[in-house]
Amino acid sequence: MPPQDSPRARRAAADDPGVSDGVPEATSAALHADEQPPLGEVPVPRDDNSEIAAYTRDLTKVYGSGDAEVVALDHVDVDFVKARFTAVMGPSGSGKSTLMHCVAGLDAPTSGEVVIGDTNIATLKDSRLTELRRDRIGFVFQSFNLIPTLTALENIELPMAIAGRKPDPEWLDHVIDIVGLRSRLKHKPSQLSGGQQQRVACARALVGKPDIIFADEPTGNLDSAASAEILGFLASSVTDLGQTIVMVTHDPTAAAYANRALFLADGRIVADMDDPDRDKVLARMVELSSPVDASAPGASTQAAGPSTVQG
Ligand SMILES: Nc1ncnc2c1ncn2[C@@H]1O[C@H](COP(=O)(O)OP(=O)(O)O)[C@@H](O)[C@H]1O
Ligand SMILES: [Mg+2]
Repeated sequence: MPPQDSPRARRAAADDPGVSDGVPEATSAALHADEQPPLGEVPVPRDDNSEIAAYTRDLTKVYGSGDAEVVALDHVDVDFVKARFTAVMGPSGSGKSTLMHCVAGLDAPTSGEVVIGDTNIATLKDSRLTELRRDRIGFVFQSFNLIPTLTALENIELPMAIAGRKPDPEWLDHVIDIVGLRSRLKHKPSQLSGGQQQRVACARALVGKPDIIFADEPTGNLDSAASAEILGFLASSVTDLGQTIVMVTHDPTAAAYANRALFLADGRIVADMDDPDRDKVLARMVELSSPVDASAPGASTQAAGPSTVQG
C-alpha cells in the first residue's frame, strides 16, 4: 500500500492544523512520496521549511527464519523532523528498540531504506557507518552506559576524544550547566546517583552536536523526580538548542514531554499523535490494546497485513 494512501497519513493530514500547507511535517514526505527524487537525493530543506533529520522507507527487519521468524519491523515509513522531540511508544515486543537500532545504524535492516541527514546508511561500509554513528548520532540508554573508571567529565568528552575531536569549550561549558553537573565533574559514575549518571549520558550525547539523539527508555532506571529532570533536559535541548531527539518509552508521562508520539504494534506504526499529553497517550494506549474493531479509525492498518509474532 503506498504510504500516502494509509489511513494514518490521511487521518494525520486531516487532523493537523499546525503546518501552513495543511500537511503535517512528519508525514508530508510520505504524502508526497511519488514526487520524491530517487533515494540518495534527499529533498532538504523542504518547501514547508521543515528539514528531516532522518527517515525510513519500507523499513523491514526480520529476525530468525522458518518457524522462528519474527517480523520486528513491517514496512515502516517514518520521518523525524529536525528540532523535534518524538516519543516512540508501544507494548513490549512491538519493535521500538529495533526501530531505534535500525535508524541509528546499530542494526542492519532486512530491507528498506534508512537515511540520516543526506546519507543512505545502507550504502556505507562498516567503517563509515561507525564514523557516522560516532560523529552524527548521540545515544542515551536506560542503563546509562558510562565507563566506570572515567570521571564524569572524561565520560562526557569520550566520544569526541575517540573521534580525535576537541569539544568547543564554550559549548562544553554550556552543556555542563544545562545538565547541572558543574560540581560533579571529577566524580566517577559509582559516586553519582542514577539521575546524575543519566545527566552525564545526556551531556555526552549533546556535546558533539549530533544530527539526532536516540534515547531508549532513558528514564527506565530512574525515580520520578530524576526522570522529570532528565526529560526536562531532553525537552529543553529540543526547544533551546534545536536538537532532534527520538525517545523510546512506554511511559505516558515521559511521552508528554515530546512534540509527537508514534505508536508501534507488531512492527508497524499504528498511530501518530502531535503534542501528546498524558491523558491523550493513555487513551490511545487503551484504544490500541483493545480488540480490533473493524469500524474504528486506524483499524484497517492493523487488519491489512499478516500479523506478526510478538515477543
Ligand atoms: N536479536 C533478536 N533476535 C530475535 N528476535 C529479536 C531480536 N531482537 C528483538 N527480537 C524480537 O523482535 C520483536 C521486537 O523487539 P524489540 O524491538 O526489542 O521490541 P520493544 O523494544 O518494543 O520491546 C520482538 O518480538 C523481539 O522478541
Ligand atoms: Mg525495547
